[in-house]
Amino acid sequence: MTPRDYPLDPYWMPFTANRAFKAGPRLFVGAKDMHYVTEDGRKVLDGTSGLWCVNAGHCRPKIVEAIQKQAAAMDYSPAFQMGHPGAFRVAERVAKLAPGDLNRVFYTNSGSEAVDTALKIALAYHRARGDGQRNVLVGRERGYHGAGFGGISVGGMPANRRAFGSLLPRVDHLAHTHNLEHNAFSRGQPAWGAHLADELESRIIPLHDASNIAAVIVEPMAGSAGVLIPPKGYLERLRAICDKHGLLLIFDEVITGFGRLGTCFAADAVGVVPDMITIAKGLTNGTVPMGAVIARQGLYDAIVNSAPPGTIELFHGYTYSGHPLATAAAEASLDLFEEEQLFRRAQELAPYFQEAVHSLREMPYVVDIRNMGMVAAIELEPRPGKPGERAFKTFLKCYENGALIRTTGDIIALSPPFIISKQQIDELMGTLGNALREVGRE
Ligand SMILES: Cc1ncc(COP(=O)(O)O)c(C=O)c1O
Repeated sequence: MTPRDYPLDPYWMPFTANRAFKAGPRLFVGAKDMHYVTEDGRKVLDGTSGLWCVNAGHCRPKIVEAIQKQAAAMDYSPAFQMGHPGAFRVAERVAKLAPGDLNRVFYTNSGSEAVDTALKIALAYHRARGDGQRNVLVGRERGYHGAGFGGISVGGMPANRRAFGSLLPRVDHLAHTHNLEHNAFSRGQPAWGAHLADELESRIIPLHDASNIAAVIVEPMAGSAGVLIPPKGYLERLRAICDKHGLLLIFDEVITGFGRLGTCFAADAVGVVPDMITIAKGLTNGTVPMGAVIARQGLYDAIVNSAPPGTIELFHGYTYSGHPLATAAAEASLDLFEEEQLFRRAQELAPYFQEAVHSLREMPYVVDIRNMGMVAAIELEPRPGKPGERAFKTFLKCYENGALIRTTGDIIALSPPFIISKQQIDELMGTLGNALREVGRE
């Protein structure tokens, strides 16, 4: 390996143990299809689609060329009071893919911004209808909705909130649905747990009064907090309660959007139509930062039509909303998903992936394995007094031995690109199994 000609200190890395990383850095310098290449030239099988985003695999020529072409043709176009064709074309295609009458697309640059945007749209919608007292937002424990103040307020990951003061006021949280006693080793959606949605009606609505609640936001499948699979019937019940009391339902599909569960959206997989969907990640196959909110037409109409003609209707947006490079990447990604029928491929591969991951059940300290579509989690019993250490050591061993996995606490998450072959699934499980065995002996 050639010595690095740059220092590691100035870069303050996100969601990273900076000191440990800089003492033993792990750097990628290349990527192609199912693999990363490390700075010392090793190939690493990508078991996580980067960070749940590279659904079609890495450096796909169609996407690369579209970005290159767009960069040369028009680098930037102002997002406010000006437009460019790609932004309209992508919105049309996303609207067509979305369920029900979710057909209005507001661009952001990340999942975090998409979440904050959705929360703001929910508040603005109620206000536009003369219902402005509806400003309570309801999230869920162990929810991850990005790192903005809105997202961490409705989110339910204690470590992400601890250092940052009082956050948004008027937020409440549903209980999460993960329960090892009832649901361990479920294949697909667990049978137990739909009743947990009833807490919205039995506790949260009486506490705040329905007339004060704006929206409920959940990840249909919670990814970052450790792959929490929705119990059968749970999301349906949330929808029914929201409808009954006039609450908007937001699905955060930043991870589940674009095929992860074998359908374009998780909403399609469970047959529930929310009022808004937040997306990012897979929209551009991870290549150029881009997110969006897809809203029901009624939300758009209520906000837009309540403003005087000729005036700005929603005072919100970003310099890079609908950036030309991002829309070029999104168009090419959507083309590729379609041409290669990648959502269907994810669906067809899911049963094989399921059996492969459940084959790790007898590995040391495994207390649960769960999966849905092309996502799976292996939960380990924490080492006494050292939560997270066992999983992180497994992550490091896998990396040394040529596979990228992801960990949250003692939960290992797998979410490979949909182009993975069965042989590569076996390889991933083989490397992970060996790492679990080795770490289990320590
Ligand atoms: C469900 C969900 N929402 C929001 C986000 C935040 O997205 P970003 O990191 O692009 O801001 C993530 C990121 O993992 C996510 O999983």
